Amino acid sequence: MKKLAAGNWKMNGTRASLAEVAALLAAHPAPACEMLLCPPATLIAQMADAARGSALLVGAQDCHAKPQGAHTGDISVAMLKDAGATHVILGHSERRTDRGETDELVRAKAEAAVDAGLVAIVCIGETEAEHDAGKTLAVIGSQIDGSIPGGATAANLVVAYEPVWAIGTGRTPTLAEIAEVHSFLRGRLRGLIGDEAEGVRILYGGSVKPSNAGDIFAVPHVDGALVGGASLKAADFGAIVDALSAA
Ligand code: PGA
Repeated sequence: MKKLAAGNWKMNGTRASLAEVAALLAAHPAPACEMLLCPPATLIAQMADAARGSALLVGAQDCHAKPQGAHTGDISVAMLKDAGATHVILGHSERRTDRGETDELVRAKAEAAVDAGLVAIVCIGETEAEHDAGKTLAVIGSQIDGSIPGGATAANLVVAYEPVWAIGTGRTPTLAEIAEVHSFLRGRLRGLIGDEAEGVRILYGGSVKPSNAGDIFAVPHVDGALVGGASLKAADFGAIVDALSAA
């Protein structure tokens, strides 16, 4: 399986930020892992144009579950594909919190994405209170059962484990906790989709940076990272790509 370094720019970046893409590609023309950036929707088409013919894949941060219609402000999977996206992040904790997205909605979006030929990156993760109460596996188990699309395969599904309390905080679980969760998720996926589970990339996300990436990538069943803040700068994201390529 090819590992995946995915960057989520969140609500950051304007056209000037595309200079970071040029710098990333100049320094990392042919990484051993897959390299994906998910900019805000306003930049997808331009980033995809800049990335054409290169090793960089471009994705989106959300989509609507419906193919078209009267949904002001929303973006369909066909529009994302037309702009040049190949992947879409779904169910990020910020959308689950800010927009009240449920497992059911995340699954509907993921099904729209895979039906359109996009790779769905389905995010799950426990809150700090759930973590401290020892409920991590119960919470993420039920999120994965409820969120992954029907017809999921190793080619169309990526799962991102992102503890909510580790996102943007500089804090991370211990390597032993990451190992426990990722091996639990592999087993849960096996129960849901059988042998396809072996090839589904399970990413870790939450305060991944150049200084901790190597240790995290050495953990079994960590098949890459979903990176927020550190994906905004080519030098940091490039160092994470290097760490994953070497893992
Ligand atoms: P962070 O965000 O790397 O800034 O912690 C991760 C994410 O939300 O995907």
